[in-house]
Formats: sequence, C-alpha cells, structure tokens
Amino acid sequence: MKTRRRDFLAALLGSAALPTLNPLSRAETVAEPLPPAALASDPRRPQYHFLPAANWMNDPNGPIYWNGNYHMFYQYNPDGAYWGNMHWGHAVSPDMVHWRHLPIAFAPTPGGPDANGCFTGTAVVQDGRVTVLYTGVQATSLDQATIKDAVPPLRETQCLAVSGDPMLETWRKAPAPVIAAPPPQLQVNGFRDPSPWRQGEWWYLVTASGRANEGGAVLLYRSKDLRHWEYMHVFACRDRSGAAAFDSFDPWEVWECPEFFALGEWRVLIFSAAGKTWWQSGKLDEETMTFHPEQAGILDYGSFYAAKTQLDKEGNRVVWGWIAETRPLAEYKAAGWAGLMSLPRILTVAGDGRLRFRVAAVVHQLRTREQNLEGSSEEDQIRRQVEAIRVPGCSGEILCAARRGSEPFELVLRGAETDRSPWLTITYDPLHPAQAAVDARPIPLELGENENLEIHLYADGSVMELFLNGQAAFVKRFYYEGGHAQDLRLNWVGSTASMAGLSVWEMTPISPNKLTS
Ligand code: FRU
Repeated sequence: MKTRRRDFLAALLGSAALPTLNPLSRAETVAEPLPPAALASDPRRPQYHFLPAANWMNDPNGPIYWNGNYHMFYQYNPDGAYWGNMHWGHAVSPDMVHWRHLPIAFAPTPGGPDANGCFTGTAVVQDGRVTVLYTGVQATSLDQATIKDAVPPLRETQCLAVSGDPMLETWRKAPAPVIAAPPPQLQVNGFRDPSPWRQGEWWYLVTASGRANEGGAVLLYRSKDLRHWEYMHVFACRDRSGAAAFDSFDPWEVWECPEFFALGEWRVLIFSAAGKTWWQSGKLDEETMTFHPEQAGILDYGSFYAAKTQLDKEGNRVVWGWIAETRPLAEYKAAGWAGLMSLPRILTVAGDGRLRFRVAAVVHQLRTREQNLEGSSEEDQIRRQVEAIRVPGCSGEILCAARRGSEPFELVLRGAETDRSPWLTITYDPLHPAQAAVDARPIPLELGENENLEIHLYADGSVMELFLNGQAAFVKRFYYEGGHAQDLRLNWVGSTASMAGLSVWEMTPISPNKLTS
C-alpha cells in the first residue's frame, strides 16, 4: 500500500492529526486560546528552548543573521496547537539563545498562490536586501495538484518575498510564483521547500519532491536573479549503490526540506523523510552540478525533523531542527502549545567526511549552579553522590564521561517523584564497543581505543537533547503527570569505576514567564 504524505504526517504527529490536513476545515477547528498564565505554569513547557508563546509550530524557516540580529521564522498555526493554516512566525535574538517575538511575517494572501498556506522556505541576501523563497499552497483541481491526497487537492508553487526593513518585519510578496509548476516531464509527488544558494555567477536552488512510485527526490534549478528559474536535473534520489545511498524509504515519500551547503572541504546535502533528517557528504562536480556522496548518516535519531541551517556571525554552520510532540494530538491541543525549536547546533565535519554536532557554546552562558562529583574512589560513596544530584524542575545540563573497560554500564534519568519509569537510558556494553544504546536503540559510534564515552545532555521541561561524543544526537520527549515541575535524578548502573567525570548545571530560563518573550 502506498504511504502518502497524510500517512506520514499521521505517523509523525499521531493519527488524530489527519483532519487538520484539510485547510478548509480550519474554521471548525479553531481552538479557544489558553490564558497566558496557564501556558506559563505548564511544567512541561521548556524554559531555555525557543517556542512560540502559544499554538503550533513546526519547521524552522529562513533562519538568518542580519543587521546584527538573528532572525528565526517558523511554520506556525495561529488558530491553535495543531498543524494547519500555515503562517511564518517570527522572532529575533542577539545571540541565538534569548528571543523576542515579532509579529507574524507571512500570512496566506486570499486569492494568491499561498492562499492555503505559506510553507517552508529559505532566506538569502541579494543586493543588500533579504529575499525569501518559500512554498505557497493553493486549492486546485486534481490534475493541477502536487499534493493530490489533500482535501481539497493542493498546488505547491515557489514564491518570493523581499524585505527592505532592518528588522525584517515588513515584506513585499511577488504577485506570481517564481516557479509555477514542477518540471512537466516528471510525475512528481510533492514540490516544496525551496533552498537557494549562491555559487559563482548563478543562484542554484534545491526543492523537495518525490517521483510517483519511485521515492523521494531533490530537484535542482538555477537562476541569475532568483526570479527566473531553469530546471536542471534530479540532484538526489533513492539509490541502491554505494555506502552513502538511501534506499529504504517508501516509494511515495517526499524528501522534505532539502538544503545543500559547503562544510570545510566537503559539500553536504540534508533532507527530511520518514520522520528523520538525513545527511550525505561528498563532492560536487561544479561543471555538471552533480553531487557524489561519500558518507551518509542521520542528523538526530530522535524527535528532530525538518532541519534548516544558517551561518552564525562567526561563519559557523548552525543547524536548527523542529522538535515535535510525541504525545497524542488531544493532549497537546489541550496544552495549548505544540513543538519547539532545538538548541542551535554547530555542524562540523571530520576528516573522513562524517558530520559532528555540538550545541553552540553561547548556550553555556545559561549555566548556573554546578554540581560535581567530589574526588573519591569508594564505589558506594560515588553512587550516593550520583543519586543525591537533582536537576531542579528538569531544567539543566549534564556532562558525563565514562571509561570504556570490560564492564557494561548504564546512565538512567528519571523523575525524582512519582514517576518511576526512566525517561532516558544510555547503555554501553563492551561486547559492542562501536555503539551505545539509547532507550535500547543501538547508535553506532567510532571511538578510539582509549576514548571515553561522552554523554552530554540538555534537559528542559519535556525534552532532552542528547549528544554522544559529538558524533550522534538523540532528542527525547518525556511527559509526566501533575501540575508542578519535577526534579530530574540520575542512577548509575554498573561499577562507578567506569565514571570518569560528572558535572551538572542548572540552567537560567530565557524568559521570566516561560513564554519566551
Ligand atoms: C516538513 C513540512 C514541509 C512543509 C511544511 C508544512 O515538516 O512538511 O515539507 O513545507 O512542513 O508545514
């Protein structure tokens, strides 16, 4: 049976998300807003991650450092905490950590090519002004549709908007799409998420797509002016050959949110499909504009999707991801908020072309009270110290180094109160020295013979962002009952002789009321 976008979204968001795909049903589904005080006192709401003050968010859109500020746009539903009626929310930050909400940047224009939604896109600078390319969706007949299984069927076109204002609050949309239809020779399934970059005298652009019954694809275009685009070829698609190939997906999927950028000597393609963001690194043949991937992997093994990158003010490649809810729609709709942005992660590349990830150091300015292990070699004393540690209100950072010897060990994180089932478990077993397991899921790692396992974890309300030796990332959502914030506690299973170091910091909230404003 073919899996369609609707099924994919259902898998991602919980099956009850389906009706919201119908853009015309939104009048019936507009939710009563929750009072800000109720949102602010929700213990599951993160305190140092970015999220809108209320309602639904998904993909990061067009993040850009401009005129001394970081701008974040994102897929936003002003009607409630569920997917639908896509607008571009907007926030600004001096440092990628502290944010201030700005008015919505783009709303659907009645009668326009984005009348049924402003989908994901990218911001670039052209002639000293920020220009955004994004996908407009509009109800259409089945034969014109690029999302045929939506009700009504939807046509996706690539649209353009320009801002001349230093805070990017006012935008002028081009009246007609700059790419009005997918290449006629391809039977596409999905056509969205344009991502341009400048190379020599051309602008190139990749879009998300899929070929009917053949699987996901990324399409390549070029232009001299960002307005007139010429289709070139399929830039990436399912492929059965080579270690860097992706083949295991569904024949009806779309490779969403593609992006192509340079990282050191390497070129990197990212795209999102089957609930994960995937990466390939390799070489670009600039003559033919063909990409030859040599390495491939997963950007994050957990709840992290639709990743989008930007350059920070120092020129580092920063990646942001949408952290989705993993609880049922009815629960997050009732909570009045759904989804958050990952912390900014700096992407680098190792000599062999494999990607490395770490949270931008600027986040560490939030560290406050530190708890450490005091020097002792007594097994029981160390265990007691570990078990006495508390991360108040589940808002903290944990850094643990563990020696890899002949004994297995496990770090377990759980609530200090009523909730007895672990929220996250990281296991190492010397029988499998090239991996760690996160909640029993094996994660491959390439570690030197004497290299410690480094467990770096950021916990915040109902999310944990975990990094293992900067080689693998895993976002875990956890939800607990009750109206007040629980503390987080740790258990070490196995000999504490393996524990080489443990530091825990409390983190300062980024806003006084948890509304990130
Ligand atoms: C990815 C995605 C994009 C699309 C947007 C719509 O999560 O499906 O492909 O542009 O979300 O909200």
